[in-house]
Amino acid sequence: MDVFYRKFRTPDDVSAWAGNTLGVTLALIDYGEDIFVSHLQRQDKSPKGSGARAMAGLTHFADDIGKPLTLVVISGEPRLVAYYSQFGFYPIGSPARHGENVRMRRDPRSAEINSQFQELFDVRRSLRSDLGSSA
Ligand SMILES: CC(C)(COP(=O)(O)OP(=O)(O)OC[C@H]1O[C@@H](n2cnc3c(N)ncnc32)[C@H](O)[C@@H]1OP(=O)(O)O)[C@@H](O)C(=O)NCCC(=O)NCCS
Repeated sequence: MDVFYRKFRTPDDVSAWAGNTLGVTLALIDYGEDIFVSHLQRQDKSPKGSGARAMAGLTHFADDIGKPLTLVVISGEPRLVAYYSQFGFYPIGSPARHGENVRMRRDPRSAEINSQFQELFDVRRSLRSDLGSSA
């Protein structure tokens, strides 16, 4: 994946960029201690991967300002839990039973940790592509 970096000042800047540049609806609520991702949706006209680009911009912003991100995966949809895990989110709270909502959180990272994570992400991506998957 390309590395994205934009100097956003507020969560609204990130949402506006995602909507205008990527065609992704990204609704964010700033609770002060953390930023809650209340909606992520790629619009039909936007290419596959646009959602991931929006998440990359958002995680850069969160790292920049040092704030955690939180979200809820409705009904604990496993593919979505795996999707968000790619960006560093992890489940929080007591383990959800099958079909229950899963709350997830991502802690802000330093630039050094991020570059190590990016390397792992790239290795995983190239492995998936070698195996013929649509990563
Ligand atoms: C989730 C979303 C933003 C991801 O956008 P994207 O990065 O551009 O990539 P894609 O749409 O190609 O989806 C890639 C990944 O999203 C997840 N995903 C996509 N559609 C999904 C669905 N209907 N149910 C569960 N997971 C889904 C999968 O993890 C998928 O990866 P995979 O193809 O390797 O299984 C986009 O699929 C979308 O708008 N989905 C509908 C709205 C939604 O479910 N939003 C999340 C609410 S928590």
